[in-house]
Amino acid sequence: MTERKPKIAVIGAGLMGHGIAQVFALAGHDVTIYDAAQTSLDTVKDRILTNLKDLGDDQSAVNRVTPEADLGKAVADSDYVVEAVLEDLPLKQRLFDEIEQHVRPDTILASNTSVIPITDIMQGLKHRERALGTHWWNPPFLVPLVEVIETEWTSAEAVAFTMKLHADAGKQPAHVKKDVPGFIGNRLQHALWREAVSLVEHGICDAETVDNVIKAAFGRRLAVLGPLENADMVGTDLTLAIHKIVLPAIDSRPGPSPYLEKLVADGKLGFKSGEGFRTWTPEQQTELRAKVLKHLKKAREEDAKQ
Ligand SMILES: NC(=O)c1ccc[n+]([C@@H]2O[C@H](COP(=O)([O-])OP(=O)(O)OC[C@H]3O[C@@H](n4cnc5c(N)ncnc54)[C@H](O)[C@@H]3O)[C@@H](O)[C@H]2O)c1
Repeated sequence: MTERKPKIAVIGAGLMGHGIAQVFALAGHDVTIYDAAQTSLDTVKDRILTNLKDLGDDQSAVNRVTPEADLGKAVADSDYVVEAVLEDLPLKQRLFDEIEQHVRPDTILASNTSVIPITDIMQGLKHRERALGTHWWNPPFLVPLVEVIETEWTSAEAVAFTMKLHADAGKQPAHVKKDVPGFIGNRLQHALWREAVSLVEHGICDAETVDNVIKAAFGRRLAVLGPLENADMVGTDLTLAIHKIVLPAIDSRPGPSPYLEKLVADGKLGFKSGEGFRTWTPEQQTELRAKVLKHLKKAREEDAKQ
């Protein structure tokens, strides 16, 4: 007898929500998806179908996705609820408060926030032991990682269930044992971005050079060689010697760079305004977006061969 797959409810049918729904549906789960905007619900199946076609995935998976305009009905029968609405703490708190009134006490509740502490989102729940964070990366159907964030209240069973749920759906779950800002991925990513901005701010090189140095040097290795594997490879003694010289020179200011603050104050918002660290024509923006997508698709194909 085959085991019943947990029923999933996705709250929010935007960029992340529709992609998360797609991953679970493709893995054989029945998925209900809720959004406050009717247009999001009306288009969600088409958006998922377009992705499935584009990726050469089983198009029938879309039949397992049910849009639902009533939040209570969307979650009532679910084993697992994942929220991906706007990055707005009071909104997320309000939604979970309402969701808890419609689900079983053991239904797992997850938020896909980018940076809001899970503890802040879930603190008002009656059953906080079943609540956690799941931080997916965009696009959810191409980037393998999902960070599973534990709060001080989360039970070991809820963490184990969520790790297995994502692994079974073909994702690579990473257990974040403490609810720290930025979790793991964004802490690492923004430690690098802080130094990248600082190099430009201090006239050491221009923005294009920073990006080229990363892409043509350690960026080439990063997908297969993490920093701690790399440290072991070259030796912890050499790593220590390098840190003694380089770390005191690296930016360690606790807040954002004044250079970044000024870009924003001057309306240089990046792609949105055509200029940020660099200038961007609409064609260059389209080209870069397409390049990233092509790279991620190729990586997914390589993963599938292994
Ligand atoms: N975009 C990313 O790269 C990324 C990556 C990881 C995590 N996240 C996080 O995922 C969440 C969703 O981000 P997104 O990029 O999908 O945003 P989005 O704007 O594409 O989608 C948000 C959706 O929430 C819906 N919504 C708004 N108010 C609602 C309500 N009251 N009830 C139900 N639905 C409501 C909107 O209609 C919209 O469809 C955010 O918390 C974001 O920080 C985003």
